[in-house]
Amino acid sequence: MSAESTSLNLLSVEQVVRERYSQASQKVEPALCCAVTPSQPELLKVLPPEIIERDYGCGDPAKYVTAGETVLDLGSGVGKACYVAAQIVGAAGRVIGVDMNDDMLSVARKYQPEIAQKIGYSNVEFRRGRIQDLATDLDVLDAMLASTSVANAADWMAFEERRKLLAKSEPMIASESIDVTLSNCVLNLVAEAERVQLIAELYRVLRPGGRAVISDIVSSKPVPEHLKNNAELWSGCISGAFEQRAFVKAFETAGFTAVELLERQAQPWQVVEGIEFRSVTIRAYRPKLTVATGEVAYVTYRGPWRSVMTDDMVLLSRGEPMLVHAEVADRWMIGPLKQQLIVERAFFGGPASQQSSATEEHGCCGEATKCC
Ligand SMILES: C[S@@+](CC[C@H](N)C(=O)[O-])C[C@H]1O[C@@H](n2cnc3c(N)ncnc32)[C@H](O)[C@@H]1O
Repeated sequence: MSAESTSLNLLSVEQVVRERYSQASQKVEPALCCAVTPSQPELLKVLPPEIIERDYGCGDPAKYVTAGETVLDLGSGVGKACYVAAQIVGAAGRVIGVDMNDDMLSVARKYQPEIAQKIGYSNVEFRRGRIQDLATDLDVLDAMLASTSVANAADWMAFEERRKLLAKSEPMIASESIDVTLSNCVLNLVAEAERVQLIAELYRVLRPGGRAVISDIVSSKPVPEHLKNNAELWSGCISGAFEQRAFVKAFETAGFTAVELLERQAQPWQVVEGIEFRSVTIRAYRPKLTVATGEVAYVTYRGPWRSVMTDDMVLLSRGEPMLVHAEVADRWMIGPLKQQLIVERAFFGGPASQQSSATEEHGCCGEATKCC
């Protein structure tokens, strides 16, 4: 693979990405990312070839949605995953695709009536926005700009104030409104300086207990600056890849829990200067809201490991009941951890001496440890 290309020092990441994907929306670019065969190919029957051929993903996150859910697809391209998810969530569910590229969106939107007619309902919409700012609808922004004259710095500052107010009062994607956020080979395209905000936005829009399922390209080692500055490698979903452990860490740091690698390509998709680039699919949950009730619960870790450390740093040993506040147990009962834990609500109505000895014997709630 050639590392010779225009330098990203001279161009903005967004400009490079926009130009590359505008072209890819018009003419299929087979080398762009590494599309996988979907697990439910029958759901492609209602899609036109123009959409099927322009699959620039690297995974199949849509297979993780379920009936009735509200789904958000970040960087939806020509809408393939949205139309697949639309059939899985059914008429009671809803799918929103967000992309910043007009050309991608116009292909996606062109087929909305036809696909709605084939599946028997209309539950998909596409919005133009940047995924690192899910509050700002770029179509609304264009309309505002068309009716505003911005001739100097003062005008610009006033306009910026209006934009921020609108994003707050009428965000494109409302906070806590989404059950599952998908993305397929897009996060790596966002400028590094905007990634903390990107994952924070992902978190903001999910309801408590909601989840993100993200397929993306990750690298086996940190990517050196000269590769990151290569516009072709960046826009080709290679040199903007998160390093694998940084990818997982980014979700943990943003407050997600039960972060899990669901899939990881055995063979790298690309190797550049000895660095392997492969697709992974990650799932991460926004913690549930838990209300302190004063109740307690015994939590027993089933195994198969000798012990596990929860995201809040509590060590659970296989087969050993641990007494915790009930809301802590609720927080742990999310995603795949549910199957690994036995939770029994407890009520201590007996003498105070018995209550404290039960706590000291098994628990982490005691005065001495203060761990939960
Ligand atoms: C590699 S393609 C993947 C498209 C689609 N997810 C798929 O699987 O075919 C990347 C898409 O993300 C969009 N994109 C890239 N950066 C974006 C950003 N910051 N905000 C919104 N869309 C973005 C591009 O316009 C393009 O449609």
